[in-house]
Amino acid sequence: MAMLADKDRIFTNLYGLHDSGLKAAMKRGQWDGTKLLIDQGHDWIINEVKQSGLRGRGGAGFPTGLKWSFMPKADSRPSYLVINADESEPGSCKDREILRHDPQLLIEGALLASFAMRAHTCYVYLRGEYIREREALQRAVDEAYAAKLIGKNNVHGWDFDLYLHHGAGAYICGEETALLESLEGKKGQPRLKPPFPANVGLYGAPTTINNVESIAVVPDILRRGAKWFEALGKPNNSGTKLFQISGHVNKPCVVEEEMGIPLRQLIEEHAGGVRGGWNNLLAVIPGGSSVPLVPAELCQDLTMDFDALLKVKSGLGTAALIVMDKSTDIVRAIARISYFYKHESCGQCTPCREGTGWMWRVLERMAEGRAEKREIDLLFDVTKQVEGHTICALGDAAAWPVQGLIRHFRDEIEKRIDTYHGGHKEAAE
Ligand SMILES: Cc1cc2nc3c(=O)[nH]c(=O)nc-3n(C[C@H](O)[C@H](O)[C@H](O)COP(=O)(O)O)c2cc1C
Ligand code: SF4
Repeated sequence: MAMLADKDRIFTNLYGLHDSGLKAAMKRGQWDGTKLLIDQGHDWIINEVKQSGLRGRGGAGFPTGLKWSFMPKADSRPSYLVINADESEPGSCKDREILRHDPQLLIEGALLASFAMRAHTCYVYLRGEYIREREALQRAVDEAYAAKLIGKNNVHGWDFDLYLHHGAGAYICGEETALLESLEGKKGQPRLKPPFPANVGLYGAPTTINNVESIAVVPDILRRGAKWFEALGKPNNSGTKLFQISGHVNKPCVVEEEMGIPLRQLIEEHAGGVRGGWNNLLAVIPGGSSVPLVPAELCQDLTMDFDALLKVKSGLGTAALIVMDKSTDIVRAIARISYFYKHESCGQCTPCREGTGWMWRVLERMAEGRAEKREIDLLFDVTKQVEGHTICALGDAAAWPVQGLIRHFRDEIEKRIDTYHGGHKEAAE
């Protein structure tokens, strides 16, 4: 696949090589003809976004235009757009590049999306650790207000206020309904759905929650046309995407590429290759720590899109690719991920609260081999009892990495159990 052409790039200041200020952003084409887009009307914008095939960039891949169409067209309550800048999934580090280097794309997208959904107010909820990012975004918001691009009586004819809200460091506050609770000043615990936020969201009013990247690509989709976006990538997996490559590669990076780029090409052309060469690859986690790993033997022809990754029982998630070479202790790596989910469980649901700790403790023993072989099936069974049985998807996120480990590295776990028991038998003799 050819590399994404520069003319098709949306994030032209991804690496912060240029000025992130308003004037420079305008020179790069941002805020160009925004009023003309607004003049086309609320429904035109929603339809264009639908036509573009854009799927949410926050992990679940829900079609963005469709989500917007769930918002009421006439309601006595105010409507809200909430932008999810919590970015706490291990491996994910794309939204921060938008926040600090191309913030005007996000602000313009926020205005257009809010107008489409008849919202006059938008909140951006930022991860607690993103202090510099919040400062950068606030500077950009202040500039946009001063230039009357947003605010009351702005040049676009749609009153629009944008507020930033800083989280306090809990991963669960990235889950959209926990985020709303936190934004309302309460403890960040997910709500039961239904009702969905489009009916009962922030302060009980219609609300749409979208990821930073989902919103930041909207101005370009509308300016260049849904067809342009749809032609990039693959059917049902359209557009460009920010990929994040970390772990055992020579040059970890964030890069904008077409959806459906072959995984090997992404690693070799953009991240300098696997440490020690392609044959030294053990496995990848393709979409942030919550998706199941994919072993090297399935990576050769794998493409980076929702559908291809689903076929190998994994997922695109946030497109944060964690590369692990053969020096990785894979059981310990997954045990560490399990610890993360145990630590971040909000504790409302019994399967998640108890199951995450249980899975972690068993994995810790398995990493040493201090387990019985029958416990492998038992562990898999427990992941199935957590998956799909909880209020929010953190339960699934905790279960999937363990399932991936057992599916592909059962022999490694068994080997450790044999070695451990063998060693102990010898010691006893
Ligand atoms: C435990 C958990 C953590 C999440 N963290 C984030 C996050 O940090 N950022 C994000 O955009 N979405 C996160 N999500 C997904 C959101 O709930 C929601 O689906 C997303 O913000 C919707 O935006 P999109 O449709 O534009 O993808 C998380 C979900 C779960 C279950
Ligand atoms: S699944 Fe876990 S994190 Fe989500 S609501 Fe239940 S206990 Fe809380």
